[in-house]
Amino acid sequence: MDKIVVCGGEKLNGSVSMSGSKNSALPILFATLLTDDKCKIKNVPELADIKTTIDFLNFIGKKTDKKEDIVSAAESSVLNHIAPYDLVRKMRASVLVMGPLLARLGKVDVSLPGGCAIGARPIDIHLEAFKKMGASIELKEGYIKIFAEKGLTGTDIEFRFASVGATENVLLASVLAKGTTRIINAAKEPEIQDLADVLNKMGAKIKGAGTAIITIDGVKKLSGFMHSVIADRIETATYMIATAMTKGNVTLTNVQPEHLKAVIDKLQESGLDIKTNKNEIKVKWTGPLKPVNIKTEIYPGFPTDVQAQWMALMCLVTGNSIVEETVFENRFLHVCELQRLGADIKIDGKSVYISGVDNLSGAPVMVSDLRAGAALVLAGLCASGKTEISRIYHLDRGYESLEKKFSMLGANIKRIKE
Ligand code: EPZ
Repeated sequence: MDKIVVCGGEKLNGSVSMSGSKNSALPILFATLLTDDKCKIKNVPELADIKTTIDFLNFIGKKTDKKEDIVSAAESSVLNHIAPYDLVRKMRASVLVMGPLLARLGKVDVSLPGGCAIGARPIDIHLEAFKKMGASIELKEGYIKIFAEKGLTGTDIEFRFASVGATENVLLASVLAKGTTRIINAAKEPEIQDLADVLNKMGAKIKGAGTAIITIDGVKKLSGFMHSVIADRIETATYMIATAMTKGNVTLTNVQPEHLKAVIDKLQESGLDIKTNKNEIKVKWTGPLKPVNIKTEIYPGFPTDVQAQWMALMCLVTGNSIVEETVFENRFLHVCELQRLGADIKIDGKSVYISGVDNLSGAPVMVSDLRAGAALVLAGLCASGKTEISRIYHLDRGYESLEKKFSMLGANIKRIKE
């Protein structure tokens, strides 16, 4: 399996373009199942999860391919209603196939997604919503079999937690349902708004995306669309933090600063010089940063997907800071790996107590999940000597051309094919 080797100590300088959002492109790809028409999606990143989803769509019957950053989904006819284990186990977001297939076919069999490194990640909120819309659900031989022979009926659905995936699945299911659906306590992430923009381009009638109450008036049919995916706000935050950690000076282009207010506020509070305009962010280290506590929350709060990267930053800032994780129940797997590099961190329940050290020293480390991997790369950029990072297939799921982009900014980073 490939490894990444980083020799730390180089400051990041220069300019680099961010890619399209993985977490926006994935639900939009599944939305192509809602129409037999052609669809074209631009600014799609080259990632393992995108390839997995394209393979999935082809298996279901929506012929789809990707050339550079453009995904084209062809006209389709018969769709298959079964999502097999070997596809679902690769990517939890595969559960987003449920909404569109229920809407189109009135039935879907999806292999149980299984847990993942960052927690059990059940789908009870998704399934409760489908039941409220008239579906019946059976668990059999590791598959969730959902039926709605008479089609789905719109209704009020109140989420116990503002789940991103559940909000996306209900949007994908309700656009072709009979009557009106209201999602109460909906997730407000920019990726939800991007999906709603696509569905409205297809002819759906959605209001309130990006707020806690989303209203969807069902329609009979949806048509094809062309859409350019929003910028990846988590990739952008990762490179901003990398610049801070290496005391660099970097311009990030093709970004949407308005999606990153919570992260920018915290970085500025810590003392980083940040200037933003429409789709550019200039980040410059101008002197020692201050320790700043974070608590992850649903959007527009501090994103859980930036928690590990923030922790890596605080490991090298003099003073004490606290990181509290409120969204996932087990998202501290990067702590023990950061400790191997010399970080002074202690876990206490949902919080982590960090005491900044003057430097980290390189060592072999292992990636447990996508964003933990990002934190290890960032720490390796600063650690003295060589840091060898294994299980980087996690990174390939969410960061396009990671080592190329960091090399362009001056990092000494290589991928070793094994
Ligand atoms: C999306 O995951 C993102 N993935 C995650 O990004 C992100 O961390 C997460 O939202 C939160 O922002 C994609 O968009 C593909 P949730 P999702 O449903 O939809 C619990 C990355 O690094 N929950 O909002 O799975 C769940 O266990 C990935 O790019 C239930 O209990 O997140 C978790 O604790 C990682 N029951 C919390 O809610 C449910 O039915 C948040 O889950 C659904 C969720």
